[in-house]
Amino acid sequence: MNQVDYLRISLVDRCNFRCQYCMPEGADLTYALQQNLLTQDELLLLLHEVFIPVGFTRFRLTGGEPLIRPGIVDIVRAIAQFPETKDLSMTTNAFLLAGMAQELYDAGLRRINISLDSLQPDVFDAIIGHHGRSRWQQVWDGIQEAYRVGFSPLKLNVVVIPGVNDQEVLDLAALSIDREWHVRFIEFMPIGNDYLFSDRGWVSSEELRQRIRDRWGLTDGQVRGNGPADVFKIPGAKGTLGFISQMSECFCDRCNRMRFSADGWLRPCLLNETGQLDLKAGLRSGVPLHELRQQVRDLLMLKPEINYKERDSGTTGTYSRTMSQIGG
Ligand code: GTP
Ligand code: 5AD
Ligand code: SF4
Repeated sequence: MNQVDYLRISLVDRCNFRCQYCMPEGADLTYALQQNLLTQDELLLLLHEVFIPVGFTRFRLTGGEPLIRPGIVDIVRAIAQFPETKDLSMTTNAFLLAGMAQELYDAGLRRINISLDSLQPDVFDAIIGHHGRSRWQQVWDGIQEAYRVGFSPLKLNVVVIPGVNDQEVLDLAALSIDREWHVRFIEFMPIGNDYLFSDRGWVSSEELRQRIRDRWGLTDGQVRGNGPADVFKIPGAKGTLGFISQMSECFCDRCNRMRFSADGWLRPCLLNETGQLDLKAGLRSGVPLHELRQQVRDLLMLKPEINYKERDSGTTGTYSRTMSQIGG
């Protein structure tokens, strides 16, 4: 059985972008009320007294957009200082990163994954649902600054949408050649974006690899990270190319993670609502911490049963909540 030791912690369900594939404009976005979000103290208490004792040692901060969470640097510092923390990373859109990268690094963050779906400012703005002065340059500056400060590995996430950015796959792949940047192509999933998905469909990782192979060749990389990506390399490149293929391949049998939402729900699976546990309610109503630990242990035992199975039969039903509500 896989060891489930990796917790994706959503710090906030809001975002300063409206990515079409994630939280499209017009989607029914119901945000948690402020009083329903875990406070910093509650979060750190649950990490220290519940998640770490039951075996979680690797943490990823997500959102919504984690950099809009007040106190984010203090949260990073506190988690980095737990002696049990083996790995602390963040997934961000990088819009606010340029001014915060050094501070985050100094607080103990070392790994960062950044969404970058296009190198063309107008396409980028359309994807993130932004009208007005382009946001592309500020994101690009954030990426450059994170690289300069020394975040490593530095991963760039590209959700590939046919007819929107799939014509840029070679340009984006080329970013891995001269710098140690790890570009990952993610198959577009129908989560909270039914219209766009049924309108555009998705492109398989194998098709993308073929296009890249035709241009440069492609060797298998040595690394397989903690996550679901299959890692390859353009021969001679400094960085790698990862492919996250949740539509064409089911990687649930090697799942090592759970998600913890900003409003305090522990979710054993991204695509399956079974077994969710309301730890905030438990904590606030005075359930003793040892009982909360037991509830999480029980859920860890059940996890193989809960893991998403429907793709085994070739289906991928649509999912009503958005990625930002589930927590990246
Ligand atoms: P590392 O490999 O540790 O850097 O992390 P990661 O690739 O898991 O993290 P990231 O937040 O960059 O996730 C990239 C994408 O992988 C997500 O946006 C999803 O599309 C996909 N993904 C991550 N976790 C899961 C999961 O539990 N289930 C499924 N189906 N897809 C996931
Ligand atoms: N399909 C695939 N990946 C998605 N992400 C968000 N929505 C989707 C989706 N519908 C991923 C993006 C982003 C991360 C936070 O979530 O890669 O980098
Ligand atoms: Fe894990 Fe569920 Fe994602 Fe599969 S779909 S990898 S079981 S979280």
